[in-house]
Amino acid sequence: MQLWRIDLAGATGLHDRFAPLLTHAEQLQASRRRTGRVQEHFSVGRACLRILLGNASGLDPLSLSITTGVHGKPQLSHRNGPSIAFNVAHSKDTILIALTRSGSVGVDVEYFDRSTDIMEVAHHNFTEKESRSLAAISYPQARIKTFYRYWTRKEAVLKADGRGLIASLASFDISFESLNLHPVRIAESPDDQGKLFFVSDLSLGIEAAGAIALESPDCPVRQLIFPLSRPW
Ligand SMILES: CC(C)(COP(=O)(O)OP(=O)(O)OC[C@H]1O[C@@H](n2cnc3c(N)ncnc32)[C@H](O)[C@@H]1OP(=O)(O)O)[C@@H](O)C(=O)NCCC(=O)NCCS
Repeated sequence: MQLWRIDLAGATGLHDRFAPLLTHAEQLQASRRRTGRVQEHFSVGRACLRILLGNASGLDPLSLSITTGVHGKPQLSHRNGPSIAFNVAHSKDTILIALTRSGSVGVDVEYFDRSTDIMEVAHHNFTEKESRSLAAISYPQARIKTFYRYWTRKEAVLKADGRGLIASLASFDISFESLNLHPVRIAESPDDQGKLFFVSDLSLGIEAAGAIALESPDCPVRQLIFPLSRPW
């Protein structure tokens, strides 16, 4: 299991630098994402993902076939040999890329947005228990941190599952204390046995929250940093 943190702060001209590492179809996909940071995030994220997958599989990064699942989750096509699951998340100047050979993985990062009415969002998306535990926090900085911690745990689980935010955020509870590899079961219906994921919080500084959800509990998370603002 590897978790890469790519730091875009202060780096410029990233799309032009990274586009040659993308396939023609991905270059078109990048150009459809308008310009600016959104486009740069996609180009850098996909190029770094190809480099990491190429390194892990021993294959040429540009020869790897990346397809999308039913709900749009990018995945490595089976014709690339032994399966490697991965997931990508973007927020502000940070890109996270998680890779594992043991089951599926989901990752999320969110920088705090203080203009968001977090209690309103919680009311519509969280379980009653989660909303109650959030409401019980009186110190605003601690409340916002907990809100984003809950949100990124939920999104990481739903990204590991592959349905993303079309699944109900309120269908499972994640209001546990900060822990490593906490078991969380999600089900599509009451008679469905569901899927089990193991959730860990990530340490991403004081202005962001992040989480990773793994299908297999026995993979230690190794965090590696890849700063783009320095020459490399
Ligand atoms: C996937 C989703 C959770 C992303 O949320 P977000 O906060 O906007 O973005 P994040 O930065 O966390 O994640 C984006 C990355 O998630 C990955 N992703 C896309 N769809 C995904 C899915 N269904 N499950 C898991 N990961 C997904 C991609 O790698 C994407 O990065 P990329 O475009 O650079 O490759 C959200 O868009 C969603 O739930 N969509 C619902 C599924 C959907 O609408 N599908 C329509 C296409 S069929």
